[in-house]
Amino acid sequence: METLYRRHINPYWLDTLEELSLPSTHVRGDGLYLYDESGEAWLDLVAGYGAVSLGHHPPEITRRVAEAIMAGGAPGTYPWGANLPSAELAHRLVAKSPLPEDARAVFACGGAESVETAMKLAMAHTGRTRFLSFRDGFHGLTLEAMALNGNAVWRRALPDMRNANTCVDMRDVDAWTRHLREADHAGVVIELVQGIGGGAVWGAETLATLVECCRETGTLVIVDEVQTGLGRTGRYFASEKFPVGLAPDIIVLAKGLTAGILPLSVALCRAEIHHSLFGAPGCARIHGSTYAGYGAGIVAGMAVLDFLESHEIPAVVARTSAHVRGRLEGLRAEHRSVASIEGEGLLITVTFSDDCPDLSGFCLDQCIANRVLVNLSAHRPNTIKLTPPLTIGTQELDDVVDLFDAALQAYAE
Ligand SMILES: Cc1ncc(COP(=O)(O)O)c(C=O)c1O
Repeated sequence: METLYRRHINPYWLDTLEELSLPSTHVRGDGLYLYDESGEAWLDLVAGYGAVSLGHHPPEITRRVAEAIMAGGAPGTYPWGANLPSAELAHRLVAKSPLPEDARAVFACGGAESVETAMKLAMAHTGRTRFLSFRDGFHGLTLEAMALNGNAVWRRALPDMRNANTCVDMRDVDAWTRHLREADHAGVVIELVQGIGGGAVWGAETLATLVECCRETGTLVIVDEVQTGLGRTGRYFASEKFPVGLAPDIIVLAKGLTAGILPLSVALCRAEIHHSLFGAPGCARIHGSTYAGYGAGIVAGMAVLDFLESHEIPAVVARTSAHVRGRLEGLRAEHRSVASIEGEGLLITVTFSDDCPDLSGFCLDQCIANRVLVNLSAHRPNTIKLTPPLTIGTQELDDVVDLFDAALQAYAE
């Protein structure tokens, strides 16, 4: 099979895995662990970049999806009819969000697709075409989402003509207020905690300045919660931290929406924004796709919300996060090589100091040697990122902090 993969899919990726001494594949996933072909267990703290939010194959979710599919009857996708079950999921998501209670949902199948839905909604509502995004942000790899990405790596292969957007440093308040006032933008697209970017977090005060500037200039605020949504930050929505009265205009969810079981994403928006795109005569189906909001995905989304509610997952995440961050801050106090701990909830980044430029690689090697999967931040090469399942216990995380501790000591010797 590897030969076929090499021939037909991606030989370069197999080379990379080999260089990192990682198995080319894992044949089974169960809870926090992935199992390789020889049956060895790997603790998975990447968890599909956070998509696998309830662990691999959470029985409460997979059973509901399997039962729905096996029961048959309900059509999978049916363009000539309204997909009524999607309304209940939309209703529950909107109720948990900081959006008004009559906000609407446009479902799709992936994060980038819904980011582009949000862009389309903002363009229809404002009549403008330009967007402002932030350095080191990441919004997906379809062409328009890619044009928002704040790192050259993910804009590679993008023709120059598409670079009409503005990309600024989130810390440079003067720069982004100036840009917003000088040129008409349809929207700003932000991640409240930069996922791929390495964990930088928007503070409430800067966020208030951004929203006020957007209100003043008629720019829509689009929050990309593909990574932060549905429990990851210790809240259902990271957007709950918007100052009262300054809610975003559009929120995008994906990954954790089905706990990584099936592809499903959604853009939630104020009703008048939805009206601008869909409300004109003959435009009721102006946007969509074959599988948008398909039955099995909606069942998975409902099962995920049931799980999050019945197990009070956001509160659990807040507690687990406080514990592991306390331990990591202890490491920082002990090792000068640890520069900062960032992120929110169980999106955790550990950045090493500039005088140890190869330390993240060293820690990664130590993790792999101990069959623990972690991420290196693509934008900050000296940052390690953890996005474990939200159900992880403090014991497993303590073991990982101990592993980092041993690695840091070994590096210093
Ligand atoms: C914040 C953010 N937005 C958008 C995306 C793109 O999502 P997808 O890979 O489902 O297209 C990602 C993927 O990692 C992401 O982290």
